Amino acid sequence: MSTLVSQHESVKAATSITSLQETINSVIEEMIKTLPNPKQLTSSERRGIVARYSSVLEGNFIYWMTAALIAVKSEEAREELVENLHEEVKDAHPDMMRRFAIAAHAFPTDSDALSVHDDLTKMRKFLGRLSPVQSLAAMAFFEGFIQRFMPFLAGLAAEEGSTEMEYTDVHGVCDIAHTEGLYRALATEISVNPVQPGTDLLEGVSLLRTLIDRIVYYKPEVAAA
Ligand SMILES: [Fe+2]
Repeated sequence: MSTLVSQHESVKAATSITSLQETINSVIEEMIKTLPNPKQLTSSERRGIVARYSSVLEGNFIYWMTAALIAVKSEEAREELVENLHEEVKDAHPDMMRRFAIAAHAFPTDSDALSVHDDLTKMRKFLGRLSPVQSLAAMAFFEGFIQRFMPFLAGLAAEEGSTEMEYTDVHGVCDIAHTEGLYRALATEISVNPVQPGTDLLEGVSLLRTLIDRIVYYKPEVAAA
């Protein structure tokens, strides 16, 4: 590939990443602005949201980041994902998550875990396809979403009497840098490993959105009726 062509390809990739990032950010914006007010939920509703979130995040975040790492081909994307994983493992983020849930009296039960089972399984199968660009787009969305979701999650726990906020404090800040890094990795990956025409780059984003909606809006009493 000549230098000129490769420069052209990089510009094209950067342009499509910018519009992809804008689309993803608008999805996040819409999801955040429609969240309920923690004070207007019942204690059981607040507990349920923290428990379902914890059930999904504690055991899957590192798994999904690892799936993206296995899928990507570019060195830059690998480095970015390894850096994320390094922090997750070194600082024991699953332990932070668990402490947060326990302190909010929201450690997930079998019913909490089963209520997200189907949507969680779809996400696992999607990442199992090891599609590098789609997987990275999904993780970039997820990092960005989590960072914006933290004040809501902290509000739920606070209303339940918890003061254990290390998880929400850490993820409300550090994931800004992670999100930017993931978009840079996405730009590189898409230029070295272009997707097939017609590929839905937002497939993983849609699956995650459905899963998050389930976490926030699931009503056990309606399901049991
Ligand atoms: Fe984390």
